[in-house]
Amino acid sequence: MEFRDYRAYLDEVERAGELRVVRGADLKTDVGGITEITAWSPEHPVVLFDEIDGYPAGRRIAVHSFDSYRRMQLVYGFPDGLRGRALTEWWADRLDVAASSPPVTPVEVETGPVMENVLTGDDVDLHLFPAPMWHELDGGPYLATGGASVLRDPDTGALNAGCYRGMVYDRHTIGHHLAGGHHGQVIRDKYFERGENCPIVISLGNDPSFTLAAAENVGFGQDELEFGGFLRGAPYEVVRGPLTGLPFPAGAEAVLEGEILHPDAEPKRSEGPWGEGLGYYAAAFDQPAVRVHAIYHRDDPIVLGEPTLRFRNRGGAGGFAQTARRLHMLRRSGLEGIRGVGQVGPFLVISLKQHYAGHVMRVADYAMAGLADRPPRYLVMVDDDIDPTNPTLVNWAISTRVDPAAQIHIERERWCNVINPAGLTPEKRRIEDYTLGTTIIDACKPFRWRRHWDAMFHRSDIDEDLRVRLATRWESELGDLVTAPRPI
Ligand SMILES: Cc1cc2nc3c(=O)[nH]c(=O)nc-3n(C[C@H](O)[C@H](O)[C@H](O)COP(=O)(O)O)c2cc1C
Repeated sequence: MEFRDYRAYLDEVERAGELRVVRGADLKTDVGGITEITAWSPEHPVVLFDEIDGYPAGRRIAVHSFDSYRRMQLVYGFPDGLRGRALTEWWADRLDVAASSPPVTPVEVETGPVMENVLTGDDVDLHLFPAPMWHELDGGPYLATGGASVLRDPDTGALNAGCYRGMVYDRHTIGHHLAGGHHGQVIRDKYFERGENCPIVISLGNDPSFTLAAAENVGFGQDELEFGGFLRGAPYEVVRGPLTGLPFPAGAEAVLEGEILHPDAEPKRSEGPWGEGLGYYAAAFDQPAVRVHAIYHRDDPIVLGEPTLRFRNRGGAGGFAQTARRLHMLRRSGLEGIRGVGQVGPFLVISLKQHYAGHVMRVADYAMAGLADRPPRYLVMVDDDIDPTNPTLVNWAISTRVDPAAQIHIERERWCNVINPAGLTPEKRRIEDYTLGTTIIDACKPFRWRRHWDAMFHRSDIDEDLRVRLATRWESELGDLVTAPRPI
């Protein structure tokens, strides 16, 4: 849905009754702690921190921007009540539309609200913005957590946007955590290989589509600003950075313009520790930092905070966008029989209609190449009678259709996230070997003897025709007890 900027979005959030303002919080414990605790309740509001200790009124931080069903609906525009598998399929269909439509190219404008205040040279001071200690043992205050950075591929000229966290080091230096394998890392290192610093603009807050588009794992070379235009249904208006030529939204709350410093020009800086979504602190490790040469910001800027938290609840609409992207990519793979994709706990689940021997593993191998981000640690393949989003059915298939000796396949040395506690030993970390094993669980009926399988193993729960007949016959006496739908 189209919002001019974050403020327009916030107005709509307030109209929906989903905004709470907190005054007088401090940056050391209150902002981070309140953010974590309030995220535990389902359907929690946006919390807007104002009059933050040590800062003038108006310098605000907004958290939980996308953490309710209604707020996700405002951004994605899905029909009321759509959830689970239906929601995933709806967004996968929209991604098919995006792929076959002309790009929604940003429109360049001379200036915009973000240029209300321009600071360069000695006036650059990152402490102008409130940056909290989000988790008690973080390595320092983090300013960039909910915005997005824009880089340009020096080989192709293609633009790339991503969300990358940044801790404040001093007045004009900020961290930039680029996990290995993310496109931003590949692009940054292309500049480094040429012996150059990498130009960058970092937005600290925008219309919500910008953050969510930047966080999407679109293909390498695809422009997230164009994808964001599709998501919001209108092109972004962008200003070209005077120093780097990189574009940023004219309605952004605040933007930092500068360069990621080549490690030969300036030693890397310790980044982290940082409280990660997996529920542990990610250890500090050295990363190239960003030198900020200019700051642009609106009057009374709102910094978006999206710190990772172990428990985060998006009101039943969390995770659907990435699952839908995987479904969209599988559909476009040209492989036959794909029925659905789901995420059940740690399992990525693909259901398919088997057509030939070897079909299951062919699809599994394709998915393991890393559909939209890293390969899953556990991929579960199920037949088309299993809803891949239904935990009960997925568990049933794993429990009853898998011979572990024949149907569990373990691969080694696959791309993984540096934040994983499992398997990344001190030695692997020392040599920056961020790889782990992955598992394919083939929970499908074995194709070669499936006819025998079906003949031997009938489902033992009640036949559907009989269930309907009994419900009709006994409803007057037993009511809901006989008309209740089958649980799975
Ligand atoms: C709130 C938020 C914070 C994130 N922080 C980081 C981060 O610090 N480093 C990182 O590499 N990815 C981070 N991610 C994930 C990336 O933004 C995401 O995978 C994105 O698609 C990467 O883009 P790229 O492949 O174009 O570089 C974050 C995502 C979100 C939503």
